[in-house]
Amino acid sequence: FEGVHFNKRLKSWYLKNHRPLLWRQTNDPYKIWLSEIILQQTRVAQGTPYYEKFLLHYPTVFDLANADERDVLRLWQGLGYYSRARNMHFTARQVVKDFDGKFPSTAAQLSKLKGLGAYTASAIASFAYGEAVAAIDGNVYRVMSRIFGIQSDMLSNEGKKEFATLAKELIPADDPGTYNQAMIEFGAIQCVPVSPNCIICPLNDICFAFEFGMQKELPVKAKK
Ligand code: ADE
Repeated sequence: FEGVHFNKRLKSWYLKNHRPLLWRQTNDPYKIWLSEIILQQTRVAQGTPYYEKFLLHYPTVFDLANADERDVLRLWQGLGYYSRARNMHFTARQVVKDFDGKFPSTAAQLSKLKGLGAYTASAIASFAYGEAVAAIDGNVYRVMSRIFGIQSDMLSNEGKKEFATLAKELIPADDPGTYNQAMIEFGAIQCVPVSPNCIICPLNDICFAFEFGMQKELPVKAKK
């Protein structure tokens, strides 16, 4: 299966090219959770100072659980989508109350918490606990569709299933967290949405979209 080949190449690209983002230097599920919630709707450059400021005020899930919601919302000012902050505050209290302040260690359990979808749950489980689950965000849909030539609509249920099946085949048992970070990073800085620089891409020789000139057509997102 060429996925093995793909994984090796992706990983060596990642080790040379990734940005040393703060949330990649920790295994703390609380910090990883915060970073993923911020990055859901906010770019890295804008989100990073908020990530730092938030952790100065609330270094642990206990600090966040004990906080007054108005203070949490004030710290979030400028980021928008305030339900993210309210859900985090709610979930911090739940983690303290129901789990003694320790985040559950599987994506299945994490996804039951308020504000955590499949992507965020898988990201935390793989980055913090090394669970071999694929974290599929928009970056990852784009990379998979282009490299492997998946032309199903990524917004349809059928399409999502097809991507999920491939993602499951690709996820390595060895260091799945780094693999997930690598997929996200590759989509964020090399396999970008508009005008990717495929000529310099080290994976272009195994890329379906490059071979057939379909970078612009992939991924397929049905118009609403
Ligand atoms: N966007 C979402 N999650 C991310 C991560 N872990 N690193 C960089 N960008 C991201």
